[in-house]
Amino acid sequence: MEIKNDLWYRLLHPKIACLLVVDTNIMTLAWAMPVDDEAKVLAISMWKGNYSYELIERRKEFVLCIPTAEMLREVWFCGTRSGREVNKVEELSIQMENGVKIKTPHIKGCAAFLECRVMDSALHKQFGEHVVYFAEVLYAWADDKLFDRTWKENANILLHVGSRFFTTPSRFLRA
Ligand SMILES: Cc1cc2nc3c(=O)[nH]c(=O)nc-3n(C[C@H](O)[C@H](O)[C@H](O)COP(=O)(O)O)c2cc1C
Repeated sequence: MEIKNDLWYRLLHPKIACLLVVDTNIMTLAWAMPVDDEAKVLAISMWKGNYSYELIERRKEFVLCIPTAEMLREVWFCGTRSGREVNKVEELSIQMENGVKIKTPHIKGCAAFLECRVMDSALHKQFGEHVVYFAEVLYAWADDKLFDRTWKENANILLHVGSRFFTTPSRFLRA
């Protein structure tokens, strides 16, 4: 079956559903990828219509939090409502904790978080309505009950399949 519409990207899912904190706003983001492990660089793709786009342009830093399946409601809310119209942190009674290396706080109770500083704006690239940001990972933390060099088999992190559908990792296959 040829995929003729704009849903081709779902062939590259599932992808981890992250919660991106910029300033004190939270949005859901699945289009993140590591770029270089030693240089500690990652990339995110951000739609220019998001409030978070404006905030990143101003703040130049963000935190990528990795929620567990218990936070599905928060993930859906933060991915379907804009910080322009609602204070998501207050509405969802989300508890924030102070940043370690940066000013931006992170979400309490997440499985992991990465504190990131956006790299030089000359590196940002716009394609259509999305901007790709490259960012340096200044600090990374993970819950050791869920992560030990890799995510553990029982780590119930949320993977976005597409539309309203999510899944969690099930069993490991060892190569
Ligand atoms: C599961 C999921 C994944 C998403 N991934 C992205 C993404 O990678 N990039 C993006 O720009 N928007 C993504 N979105 C859409 C934003 O989260 C959404 O537009 C949000 O309302 C933006 O909030 P803001 O206006 O407060 O920044 C995603 C939404 C969902 C539900």
